[in-house]
This record gives sequence, structure tokens and C-alpha cells, in this order.
Amino acid sequence: MTEDTLVPDVITAPSPRERARIALSTARRRTLALADCLSDAELTAQHSPLMSPLVWDLAHIANQEDIWLVRRAGSRPGVRPDLDPLYDAFRHPRADRPALPLLDPAQTRRYLADVRDQALDVLAAIPPGDGFLFGMVAQHEQQHGETMLATHQLRSGPPVLNAPEPPPAAVDVSRLPREVLVPGGPFSMGTSTDPWALDNERPAHTVDVPAFWLDTVPVTNAAYQEFIEDGGYDDPRWWTPDGRLHRERARLTAPRFWFRDGGSVWLRRRFGHVEEGPPDEPVLHVCWLEADAYARWAGRRLPTEAEWEKAARHDPATGESRRHSWGDTPPGPEHANLGRFHLQPAPVGSCPAGASPLGVHQLLGDVWEWTASDFQPYPGFMAHPYREYSEVFFGPSYKVLRGGSFATDPVACRGTFRNWDHPIRRQIFAGFRTCRTAEDND
Ligand code: AVJ
Ligand code: FE
Repeated sequence: MTEDTLVPDVITAPSPRERARIALSTARRRTLALADCLSDAELTAQHSPLMSPLVWDLAHIANQEDIWLVRRAGSRPGVRPDLDPLYDAFRHPRADRPALPLLDPAQTRRYLADVRDQALDVLAAIPPGDGFLFGMVAQHEQQHGETMLATHQLRSGPPVLNAPEPPPAAVDVSRLPREVLVPGGPFSMGTSTDPWALDNERPAHTVDVPAFWLDTVPVTNAAYQEFIEDGGYDDPRWWTPDGRLHRERARLTAPRFWFRDGGSVWLRRRFGHVEEGPPDEPVLHVCWLEADAYARWAGRRLPTEAEWEKAARHDPATGESRRHSWGDTPPGPEHANLGRFHLQPAPVGSCPAGASPLGVHQLLGDVWEWTASDFQPYPGFMAHPYREYSEVFFGPSYKVLRGGSFATDPVACRGTFRNWDHPIRRQIFAGFRTCRTAEDND
């Protein structure tokens, strides 16, 4: 897969209609690139019980577009309403999906194309508005693009993906402070105005966040390796009771995809390539329980979701919250490693232009960052319009992740965007950073 990726023109497009058209076609290029590099047998196989067969993702993408754009936005009968039950994520757990009478790859590609033809007709005909449903569907397809990339990561066999560009070389971060003081006080969390913000990001509301010190950069492979070498996995002091139980049951000893080949050197498998993980790259494929244990070992803790968002969006000069850590301009390669440009995180300190006003680096892009917080609705939350997008996941079973990864498309990444997963999951492109509460004399 080689793609011309970052597309700031989605955001600067002359009209909402044009913006929607670009976002949909960009998403589709990615979806097809992730499928076209695999045989039909690989598309229908289940590469991990955690994931759907890729043909399920593909037809589910078409089915959601059929539901929301052809039927809801276009008031048309729909391309294949009879397929709704088959591709309803709530009806069939991922592990059961291979046994379903799914469309084959050729039928699936046809379904994608037929739905898209009708969705574009609808888009051309609707009165100009904010295009929210089109933005929602484009983001949905891009989120499945990231899920499909996680399936690629779990697949065994020779590599089929190539990054458009290698990551930047390591940077000297010795001049950066280890941590940054985020002053206490209220800030505006969430958004009521961002046209494509999803229901769980709304509404904007004021949150008072006491002063805290946040890591300037995400935790690196080298730092995480120190935790391993120090016996961190075996020391019950660092693990919650749940963490201890899971660590033993799942035999966690290192991040997923890491292994030692006889010697003492850690290697990792990344999209079929076996390599040493660059020491100064953000650590990837750790679960929340591992991130939480590391933080305790380091004498620190994971930031809450509100702390993370304040560090990413609050501008102390104006008191306003911005769209991204660098401001309101669309993400470019100088700001954040998004959009699969490198197919791996970039070394810490690589994107100084993307730092927040207080000097926190790489909040957006590179790795999703686990936060301490459960996924909960904001005060005044209203499910809209896709009830099962957020509402059914609220509660203590899911932890919030923020910031987006190298695999996240810019259209589904902003300072307010909320992702979530079970605290034991490691196949997602997740790392973390740590923090500590400030003392009165800091
Ligand atoms: C927001 C990534 C947790 O994949 O479960 C895709 C996104 N929702 N289809 C998921 C989603 C419905 C969701 N996450
Ligand atoms: Fe989905």
C-alpha cells in the first residue's frame, strides 16, 4: 500500500459538500488499498479472534453508508436493506463473523461501489448544510481503516504494506524538559461547534483541572524496557488487583509483538517485518493495565481525560480551547504523524511545530494515549444520530484513549476526539504518557 495520504484540503475545501466528497473518496482509497494487497482467501480468513474477517469490515462500511447516506440523508429505499442484520456489529460478536453467510470479496466490492454511487448522487442533490452525516460516515470508514490496519498487524505471513516514507531520524530531546507544568484552573472541554464532532465530544462544558506536571513526550521503548528490566512485570506493587490477575492469566511479560530471540535483545514484529524497536520511539501495543503499572513504577500516574484535553487544547494566553495542540490549522506532516505516512510512530520530539502552547509534544498522532478515565458521557450528552456509536459503551468497562495514532486519518483526529477500549486490549495502536499532581509550591 502506498498512498498519497495527508489531505488538509478536506478541511480547507471550498464548501461543506466538497469537503464531504473529498473525505469520502479519501477514505475509500485507503479502504481499497488495505484490501487490494491481500488475496481473496486472506480477506475472508479470520486473522485473530479479536478481529473481523476483512470482508466483514468492507461490507459493514458499505452497509453503514447505505443506512446513513442513501436511506437517511437521501430518503431512498437503500441498496441492500436485507443485509442490515448480517453487518450489524451488535448482532454478531467478532469471533462469530467468519461463520456467517457473508458476501464474497467480489460481491463486497460491488456493494461498496453501488452504495457509493448512490451516496454521491444524494450528496449532489441535498441542500448545502454542514454535511454532518457525510462527515460521520467518512470518519466511520476511516476508523474501520485503522481497525483493518490492526488486523494487518495481527496477520502472520510476509509483509504486504509499505509506508510512503520512512520515519524521521531520532532527534536530540535532551534540551526539552522532562515534564511540563499545566497550571490549575478551568478550561472548556469538548465542543458544541465543531461541525463534524461526534456525539460523545459534545457539548462544550467547563472543567476545573488542578495544576499537574505532564510528560513532555510519550513514554518511549527505551523507558519501557527499563521497566521490564527492573522486574516491573513481576512486582505486585505496581499492579492493581485486576492487573495482577490479567498479567498472570495472559502471561504478560512485554508489549504485544515484542519477543526475545534467544539473546537479550528485544525484537518486534511490525506488519510482518521483524526489527529492533527504535529506543526513542513511543512504546506501542501496551494495554491500559500495563500503562497503569508502568506509571506507578515511575512514581507517577496516567493523566485523566480532562487533564489530557486541557494540555492539548487550552491556550493560556487567551483562555480559549483550540482544535489541535498547535492551533486551529489543519494537521500537516510538520504537526503530527497521522495518516499512515510512516506506518509506525515517529521518534519523540519529531514534530516540534505540533507542540502545545505550554510545550507538550506529540499529543496528536503517533500513538493513542491511554488515560486514567472510564468512558462516560459529558453533562448534557445526547446520542446523535447513531445510538449505538457511543451510548452503549459508557461505563467502567472501557478506558478512554486520546490523540490518535500514526494509523488515524486527520479527518478522525482532533483535540476533542474520544476513543475507547477495554483495559486489556493491546492490538490497537496505543501507548501512553504519565503525569503527577503539582504540589502547592511548584
Ligand atoms: C471508536 C474505535 C472504539 O471500532 O469500536 C466503528 C469505532 N464504531 N464502528 C470501534 C466504530 C462503530 C469504535 N471505536
Ligand atoms: Fe462500524
